[in-house]
Amino acid sequence: MQTPYSTSQTYIDEFNPLDYYQTYYATGKGIFFGEWTEFVLRNLHETFGPGGVTGDILIDFGAGPTIYHLISACEVFNIIITSDFLEQNREQLEKWLRKDPDVLDWTHVVKFVCDLEGNSNGDNCEKKEATLRRKVTKVLKCDALAKKPYDPVPMPEADCLISCLCLEAPCRDLEDFTNTLKKFQELLKPGGHIIIQSVLNCTFYYVGSKLFSCLSLTKDDLEKAFKEAGYEIVKLKVKPRSEKSGMETADQDSYYYIHARKPQKH
Ligand SMILES: C[S@@+](CC[C@H](N)C(=O)[O-])C[C@H]1O[C@@H](n2cnc3c(N)ncnc32)[C@H](O)[C@@H]1O
Repeated sequence: MQTPYSTSQTYIDEFNPLDYYQTYYATGKGIFFGEWTEFVLRNLHETFGPGGVTGDILIDFGAGPTIYHLISACEVFNIIITSDFLEQNREQLEKWLRKDPDVLDWTHVVKFVCDLEGNSNGDNCEKKEATLRRKVTKVLKCDALAKKPYDPVPMPEADCLISCLCLEAPCRDLEDFTNTLKKFQELLKPGGHIIIQSVLNCTFYYVGSKLFSCLSLTKDDLEKAFKEAGYEIVKLKVKPRSEKSGMETADQDSYYYIHARKPQKH
């Protein structure tokens, strides 16, 4: 049976960031602990590592209550603007930035990235968290369905926009998804990079006991959307899901990474 589309109001009423963390990222039991985080973090390590993408401003679209996808990026950007649609998620991000006593624990993910960088003693992991906290200058509200996703806040043109597991939530169909990518063009400098990582062929996901819909996309859909939205695709990677436990929590059959660029002359 098809999952009914989750509206913005459903998100406001039912998306609990603590349940989200427990369901997906908690050490040893979250269903994204392992395969998803390793896929994403290795891709980002390659993208932002030596000789890779760099710049002044990074926009992070639809972070939820999470920061894992910013750990590699924090070394190569001066300013990181993170964002989410939901107040309850932005509150978790602010808490993490303030180092409140009851923050969501990302230390296992920070250690994984420090390991990738060959630098994982305790001091270095703490320094990495401090660098990220210093670089994140704003936590904004974003809305993929709005004509201008950050209205009324004026946005600088960024060198890079990153987004993980977000657009399939608010976008109802491929047309919505393509239109959202088009709107992102205005947030990027000419030649700017866009890096999206998410799931393919996923129709639903649970956050605790709450069910949410997911726009089910194929690899061909992705390529079509990015081309139609006017980007030049640099790299598209798909990784089939091998960890099949948790299919009743979220039913994606693979994960994708796409790196594309806004053309120099638009
Ligand atoms: C599956 S969570 C992904 C969270 C996080 N990026 C991650 O990687 O785990 C989906 C996210 O979509 C966000 N979302 C829902 N409606 C949205 C909208 N209209 N515009 C932008 N983001 C939205 C939710 O607030 C939530 O954070």
